[in-house]
Amino acid sequence: MKRIFSGIQPTGNLHLGNYLGAIRNWVRLQDEYECIYSVVDMHAITVWQDPQGLAASTRETAAAVIAAGVDPEKNVLFVQSHVPGHAQLAWVLNCVARLGWLNRMTQFKEKAGKHRENASVGLFAYPNLMAADILLYKATHVPVGDDQKQHLELARDIAQKFNNDFGVELFPIVEPLILGPATRVMSLRDGGNKMSKSDPSDYSRLNLTDDADTIALKIRKARTDPEPLPSTLEELTGRPEATNLLNIYAALADSSIDDTCAKFAGWSFSDFKSELADLAVSSLSPIFDEVRRLRGDPAYVDGVLRMGAERAERIAQPILKEIYQAVGFLDA
Ligand code: AMP
Ligand code: TRP
Repeated sequence: MKRIFSGIQPTGNLHLGNYLGAIRNWVRLQDEYECIYSVVDMHAITVWQDPQGLAASTRETAAAVIAAGVDPEKNVLFVQSHVPGHAQLAWVLNCVARLGWLNRMTQFKEKAGKHRENASVGLFAYPNLMAADILLYKATHVPVGDDQKQHLELARDIAQKFNNDFGVELFPIVEPLILGPATRVMSLRDGGNKMSKSDPSDYSRLNLTDDADTIALKIRKARTDPEPLPSTLEELTGRPEATNLLNIYAALADSSIDDTCAKFAGWSFSDFKSELADLAVSSLSPIFDEVRRLRGDPAYVDGVLRMGAERAERIAQPILKEIYQAVGFLDA
């Protein structure tokens, strides 16, 4: 049986980058796999989070996942902190993983920067919690982007060491699910910067709460250069804004960047932008409208998450019991 686990950190002010880079992938996997999806609030607190903001972002991220088309009946969608097994297993795995393994994690080095001594212990141990997320459900496949590959390899090492140390075949070997190059969406005002919630200009991003008129307006106002569109990918070198808009078109149309270049070769930006605006409005507004609707119905979202947590708990409970027995904890 193939079982997927994936997690997304809660963020407020979700934008097109979050949708195309992360959330959309989840929608696509649900037809093929049994999927368990979590908004990982416990991961988020490895760096400081404003408590009120965290709760709101957690709900908003869940709403975006639902609005994007993840069916919460067919899949399991829940908030990490609602299922205590994640923290319980993470502790056991803290005692399995070696300090030397975690010391090699490049993301910690990047995030901690020069102030390593000031980073939280949680930020250092974060990959163990991620391994726990996956192993608590004996997930077999995990969709990963480039930045998470190393953490997934670590999860495999931890699973293997656990099996060896305790002489069990408890954890399956987790396979990464490489989903092709993730769409990296850049700012609409500056093709050299990632689209980000922290950009002061609202025109730099499409928010998942923008209405159709706003989507079209932002695309019309997106920065461009004076040349017409080229016919090949190579000719896009040094034209970050053109590259970004063509990438967004390709992602929304589900086509390749090569085909998209060929389709618009020689077009002026104004004609291309009007095509892009039409496509963006038709493909994104139903989702964005639903995000706004769900924002106004927190009771529904909370209900979905409660049901998800119950279902996650039912899967996790017997596995955690098996783990505790393997470790030698006295039966409660
Ligand atoms: P963040 O809001 O930066 O914590 O990101 C949440 C998720 O959205 C992560 O999986 C990111 O990889 C993804 N993401 C954020 N910004 C972008 C972007 N501009 N392009 C593609 N993916 C993004
Ligand atoms: N660490 C991932 C990120 O920052 C999120 C995550 C937490 C995750 N647990 C996971 C992803 C388990 C896949 C599987 O994006």
